[in-house]
Amino acid sequence: MADADTASAKSYKVDVPAQSEPFFLKGSNNLDWGMKNRLSNIFSPESGRTVMLAFDHGYFLGPTSGLERVDLDIVPLTPFADTLMLTRGILRTCIPPTYTGGIVLRASGGPSILKELSDEQIAVSIDEAIRLNVAAMAVQVFIGGQNETQSIHNMTRLVDMGNRHGIATLGVTAVGTDMVRDAKYIRLATRICAELGASYVKTYYVDGFDTVTASCPVPIVIAGGKKLPEVDALQLAHDAIQEGASGVDMGRNIFQADNPAAMIQAVRKVVHENFKPQEAYQYYQTLKTEPTPSPLA
Ligand code: R5P
Repeated sequence: MADADTASAKSYKVDVPAQSEPFFLKGSNNLDWGMKNRLSNIFSPESGRTVMLAFDHGYFLGPTSGLERVDLDIVPLTPFADTLMLTRGILRTCIPPTYTGGIVLRASGGPSILKELSDEQIAVSIDEAIRLNVAAMAVQVFIGGQNETQSIHNMTRLVDMGNRHGIATLGVTAVGTDMVRDAKYIRLATRICAELGASYVKTYYVDGFDTVTASCPVPIVIAGGKKLPEVDALQLAHDAIQEGASGVDMGRNIFQADNPAAMIQAVRKVVHENFKPQEAYQYYQTLKTEPTPSPLA
């Protein structure tokens, strides 16, 4: 009953202004609560960064090396990832619904490796994305590619649908094999994704990467790319983070590593704890001698 409420002015802390903390993620302060909550399930609010484990390659490559048995070889890595990037088929068939990290759903597709890869269309409905409780939808954008406008249109439609429901959109810059992968091109591609509404952008590390992160108003994560020696992959992640990346979206350099569980834990040290590449490599070597993956600290 209202008249029984004896709280004093002291309880109301009338002299303390309402708390209003800025959101931790670059360019994301003006988003709505649901979108921020989902982004906090991708990026760690403590470090502001993410280790995304990417294993969506089968959507155009089929069962590529390391992904022949997602149930046996990838599921054990999932406790070490902040976020999983995958297709809805693999999500439903292989990933336990008890997984509580972020889900970034592959939302574009169409052509296989046998055809023109830029000829993608939106490959999932917003109802399905909501049903699967995803944090973000990932869409390939082919700047300079044969189907540039179509791929941009895929992204902007997903941005519109995602914004309506508080689901983020990850713009994935796809670089054709015949294109120059330099800072000028990556600045162009990442900036276009951000300007047209992507919540964050995935791209490749290149020389001059600090100019890419500086000129992109939303967070950038880097793809690992082709398999490298483990120490070189850790160096790549380190350089990208130190030059402004907000994380990695790494696939082959984790699941094709000599010891994938050790590798993803070493990558975490680089991303979340600013380990130097050699430090992280030593950590990797130590973990390699352990018989089974240890749970996340
Ligand atoms: C590529 O199209 C896929 O979306 C991958 O998720 C992406 O390339 C990251 O994987 P990787 O580190 O193997 O390049």
